Amino acid sequence: GKISLIGVPMDLGQTRRGVDMGPSAIRYAGIVERFKNLQLEVEDLGDIIISRTANRAPSHSKLKNLPVVAEVNRLLADKVDEIMKNHSFPLVLGGDHSIGIGTLAGVAKHYRNLGVIWFDAHGDLNTEETSPSGNIHGMPLAVSMGLGHPDLVNIQGYAPKVKPEHIVIIGARSLDEGEKKLIKEKGIKVYTMHEIDRLGMAMVMEQCITYLRERVDGVHLSLDLDALDPADAPGVGTPVNGGVSYRESHLAMEMLAESQLVMSAELVEVNPILDERNKTAVLAVALMGSLLGEKLL
Ligand code: ARG
Ligand code: MN
Ligand code: MN
Ligand code: MN
Repeated sequence: GKISLIGVPMDLGQTRRGVDMGPSAIRYAGIVERFKNLQLEVEDLGDIIISRTANRAPSHSKLKNLPVVAEVNRLLADKVDEIMKNHSFPLVLGGDHSIGIGTLAGVAKHYRNLGVIWFDAHGDLNTEETSPSGNIHGMPLAVSMGLGHPDLVNIQGYAPKVKPEHIVIIGARSLDEGEKKLIKEKGIKVYTMHEIDRLGMAMVMEQCITYLRERVDGVHLSLDLDALDPADAPGVGTPVNGGVSYRESHLAMEMLAESQLVMSAELVEVNPILDERNKTAVLAVALMGSLLGEKLL
C-alpha cells in the first residue's frame, strides 16, 4: 500500500502555543523510516502553509481565529481529497484537533457511510453555543456531524460528513454538559475510561470493530494523543489524568490493523514545547507502526 503524509502546523484552534510544531516533532521521531521498514511506499507532501500574519485577523464570532481555521481546513480538505483520488492512505500530521474538520471533509466524500473512531480524552462535540472556551479544537466532531458554523460545516460543499451512529469515541474522560446532551440525543457510541477499565481494551476494540463493520464501508481514525495517559504522552495541550496506557493503545492499534477497516488517519495535539524529549511524538509514531501492521513475530 501507499501512504501520503501531509503536515498541518495549526495551533489556532486552541490557546497554547507549540502544537504548530507537531508535524516536525513527528517527522523527527522517524515516521517515514518506520513506514519504509514495513515495506510501505511513503510520500511526504510537506506542510500546508499557514500565514502567521493572517493569524491575527480578528474573528467576528465567539469562535477563536475562525477565518484562518476555516481557510486552512479548506486547503487541507482539498489535499486529502486528492490523496484519496490517488488511492493512497492519507495520514495527516497535526496541529491541533481543529484540523479534523478538513480531514473528514476530504475523506468522507469517498464513502457512502464513513465510520470514525475518535480516540480522545474529549468529545470534541461542542458548538458555538455549548463551548466553554471558544476553541475550535473542541468542535470538530460536531462540525463533521453538520452542527456548527456554516464556514466549517459546509467545507467541500456537502454536510454532514459523518452520521452519529457511525462514530465511536474511545478514551473519553472529560465531557462538557452540552457534549453529554448531544451524545445521548444522537446515540453516539462512547467507550469512556470506565468501560475500558471494566471490559478491558481487547473487548472494547472487539465491540468497536464489530459495531463499525456492520454499518460502514471504511473507517477514519482520529488519534488525539491526549487520549493517552499524561504519564505516557505529556506533550499535549489539554492533558487529563487517568488515560489509556501505552500498552492498551498499542493493542488497540494492533487490533485495528488486523481488522483492515482503517483507510485514513490523523495524529493531533502533539505539542513538543510541553513534551519530554519528544516522547509523545515517538509514541505517536510507534502507534502508527502498529496501526499499519508492525508485528514482533
Ligand atoms: N471540551 C473542551 C473545549 O471545548 C476541551 C477540548 C479539547 N479538545 C482537544 N482536541 N484537545 O474547549
Ligand atoms: Mn481532540
Ligand atoms: Mn475513491
Ligand atoms: Mn482531546
